[in-house]
Amino acid sequence: MSSARDIKVPQEELAHRVSRSLGLSTSPAAPITSTASSFGFSAAVGSTPASVAAAARAAKHLKPFATEDIKILLLENVNQTGRDILAAQGYQVEFLKTSLPEDQLIEKIRDVHVIGIRSKTKLTARVLKEAKNLIVIGCFCIGTNQVDLKFAADNGIAVFNSPFSNSRSVAELVIAEIVVLARQLGDRSNEMHNGTWNKVSNKCWEVRGKTLGIIGYGHIGSQLSVLAEAMGMNVIYYDVVNLMAMGTARQVPTLEDLLREADFVTLHVPELPETQNMMGPKQFDQMKEGSYLINASRGSVVDIPALIEASRAGKIAGAALDVYPNEPSGNGDYFHNDLNTWANDLRTLKNIILTPHIGGSTEEAQSAIGIEVGQALVKYVNEGSTLGAVNLPEVNLRSLTIDEPDHARVIYIHQNVPGVLRKVNEILGDHNVDKQMTDSRDDVAYLMADISNVDTQTIKDLYAKLESLSSRIMTRILY
Ligand SMILES: NC(=O)c1ccc[n+]([C@@H]2O[C@H](COP(=O)([O-])OP(=O)(O)OC[C@H]3O[C@@H](n4cnc5c(N)ncnc54)[C@H](O)[C@@H]3O)[C@@H](O)[C@H]2O)c1
Repeated sequence: MSSARDIKVPQEELAHRVSRSLGLSTSPAAPITSTASSFGFSAAVGSTPASVAAAARAAKHLKPFATEDIKILLLENVNQTGRDILAAQGYQVEFLKTSLPEDQLIEKIRDVHVIGIRSKTKLTARVLKEAKNLIVIGCFCIGTNQVDLKFAADNGIAVFNSPFSNSRSVAELVIAEIVVLARQLGDRSNEMHNGTWNKVSNKCWEVRGKTLGIIGYGHIGSQLSVLAEAMGMNVIYYDVVNLMAMGTARQVPTLEDLLREADFVTLHVPELPETQNMMGPKQFDQMKEGSYLINASRGSVVDIPALIEASRAGKIAGAALDVYPNEPSGNGDYFHNDLNTWANDLRTLKNIILTPHIGGSTEEAQSAIGIEVGQALVKYVNEGSTLGAVNLPEVNLRSLTIDEPDHARVIYIHQNVPGVLRKVNEILGDHNVDKQMTDSRDDVAYLMADISNVDTQTIKDLYAKLESLSSRIMTRILY
């Protein structure tokens, strides 16, 4: 943490700073309407006196240090969208296309405040121990099991990921699979590749007027609902939560109701003890004769031997699987019985589409991940917001505004033990605390407080006092 700096800024510089933080032109001749910046600002501002005043009421762009002091290491070819967002802040961004061997990673991570990775970089306790300046990790992907989340939290390092950026991609894949299954396209295509012309219409269907049953009506399920209705399908859904229907979709009270009514059944639930094998022999039995099953959620949700049985018995007319109980860590010749004991049987079945967990794998999803994680990192570095963090409690305060120049934001990450708030409030006690929020998650608590009428010396004193508390994990003061 570099030392605090004077928060008094001359009015002209203030206006300039606002313009810069909003990404606006400072040319007096060129009033520009800003599009929302990465902070969600939306101001229409030209550089007239009135508009400068308007800008002065805009959200204050907090900085813990001079921006160029913030060092970011991006590994594994993080998407351009994320790189652009971070570079636009003026941070020092180092970008590498690959992951790094552990010794090189340790060497590099010592120096940086932020690291961006994808799935190959393992941020173990051993690596993170060396990361003395690190405040936040961005996983530019869905999963976070490559990071020791507990060690990170215990050391006040926030971790962000992007769990929902690929929802649309999955929904579109499922739509494609519905049509492919209904027309047996996989089989026809395989036959043609083998030189066989087999023109059939028997048991090939239009999807218009058929019923799609969606199990789990969350981000993906609800997107799918809209797309399916646009193709003339009737949509029903089952979810453990009561959820507002999209379009004319209808929630049904039980899984059995859904299975008895749907021509196509598609799963979009999380991996939980309750969802393990939620499609087993009993559920296949409840499905309509000649219906179809699609699973692009998690491999543990479908009992695959039961599916093989239902397919062989002609109970289901086809299935599409994108996820499996065991999946290989790299590409190659792996889809055999050594990976999953039933793999060879599955491969012999007719009208079964097998894809290698590609539901969310599109260029658009990668680009959206770059934006979501890039923005979360900026919000965390500049404002301390932990919304969306996977290992710290989610705490957010509305942004300070530019017309609150002598305010500072105190962030105190501490052990979740009794009596800390009293001690912190004793330290903050003499100052006007405008707003404060605190929350805890397991052993770690996160406190944010905006205080007014503080000068440089006060900030330094507060910082030193908070750092001296035994409960302290990390103190940051933004101004
Ligand atoms: N194939 C891929 O590449 C891919 C990509 C992204 C997500 N996914 C997976 O898709 C699944 C859904 O993702 P999402 O983003 O829509 O999740 P989400 O959290 O937005 O929605 C899940 C829904 O399932 C409901 N649910 C939970 N338990 C249930 C139960 N026992 N019965 C019925 N409903 C239940 C929840 O209430 C919620 O509405 C997840 O398992 C996710 O891992 C797969």
